[in-house]
Amino acid sequence: MKTENRTADFYDIIRSRRSVRTYDSSAKMTEGELKEILEEAMLAPSGTNLNPWRFMVFTDPAEKAKLFPIAFGQQQVVDASAIIVVLGDMNAYTVENANRINQRAVDAGYMTDEVKDIINNGVENYYGSANEQTKKEWQMLDGGLLAMQFMLAAKARGYDTIPMLGYSIEQFRNEFNVPENLVNILMIAVGKASGPAYPTVRLGVDEVTTWNGVV
Ligand SMILES: Cc1cc2nc3c(=O)[nH]c(=O)nc-3n(C[C@H](O)[C@H](O)[C@H](O)COP(=O)(O)O)c2cc1C
Repeated sequence: MKTENRTADFYDIIRSRRSVRTYDSSAKMTEGELKEILEEAMLAPSGTNLNPWRFMVFTDPAEKAKLFPIAFGQQQVVDASAIIVVLGDMNAYTVENANRINQRAVDAGYMTDEVKDIINNGVENYYGSANEQTKKEWQMLDGGLLAMQFMLAAKARGYDTIPMLGYSIEQFRNEFNVPENLVNILMIAVGKASGPAYPTVRLGVDEVTTWNGVV
């Protein structure tokens, strides 16, 4: 089977992605391929394009084994080719970080210096006064969008994934000395499925939607 399939049909991808819990433990993904998928995931939008996501990637069996008890014995953390822990950098909501990104847009000819200054000042005004809880909520939004795109990008290459919150964030942070400024968003296992996912259902659109303000 081709490991890379950039022509995979978008509708097939969104309809066939399921949370897979059984993986071929002999299947390896290269660092290069994981980086490509991360790069595609990072095409996701983020508030003010601040790119707050950070990643801890685990491919080493010894490191993945440490995740097993932390993830309450979920076998996929051991068997999947890689575990991606999506984090958010609380220091991303700063003028310094905005400038780091927007200067690249200026250099690429996408933005003038004047626009860069306006955006950077906006970051100061908008994010500067936000409290920690609000910033964490933004992190969850930006990281959630990123995570979804990661799972679809992986699926387009013939890999399966599972998003996971079933792990002890406290134990994870202690084990891997996660710095204070990084908040945990989601763990994602990615690899070659060795068995099918459970089929799942969804509520109907009409059950969850109102139109034009009528509840
Ligand atoms: C935020 C989040 C956390 C999840 N955590 C776990 C988990 O720890 N273990 C697990 O087996 N599934 C986990 N799931 C997978 C869900 O159970 C799954 O997405 C849902 O049942 C729908 O199934 P599907 O993804 O196959 O369509 C999680 C999903 C999300 C979105």
